[in-house]
Amino acid sequence: GAPVEVDISSLAPGEMVTVEWRGKPVWVLRRTPEMLASLKKTDGQVADPASKRNPDEFTPEYCINEARARKAEYLVAIGICTHLGCSPSTKFAPGPQPSLPDDWAGGFFCPCHGSTFDLAGRVFKNKPAPDNLVVPRHMYLSDTRILIG
Ligand code: FES
Repeated sequence: GAPVEVDISSLAPGEMVTVEWRGKPVWVLRRTPEMLASLKKTDGQVADPASKRNPDEFTPEYCINEARARKAEYLVAIGICTHLGCSPSTKFAPGPQPSLPDDWAGGFFCPCHGSTFDLAGRVFKNKPAPDNLVVPRHMYLSDTRILIG
């Protein structure tokens, strides 16, 4: 499939946009400083904090960092659960949420079998999903344009 360009110029902090690439939903989440800070909290709770597993498949080398991003502010991830392919909900607000832990720092929740992911798409331990959400290859064409694929 052809690469897809995303214009992020109107994306406010805390907002997410979904684009389609190769028939898959790709999320671009502009993370606030609080959202980025929450990754420190979840470092010890996620199964693969440094995204070491199968980097060829899940995390391009330039995104192997805590934020799983080229620019920490923007998470670019494929919105498909790595368990059996459901679409996790985009409940990224922190605080109590139905069926999520009370200390939920924000992230994504897969309704099919309850896998949860933090705001870097890292899967929490002891969840059915074996891997972090896929970060697709991408690059910045400018400060406001990302090319995915
Ligand atoms: Fe997401 Fe099973 S498909 S938890």
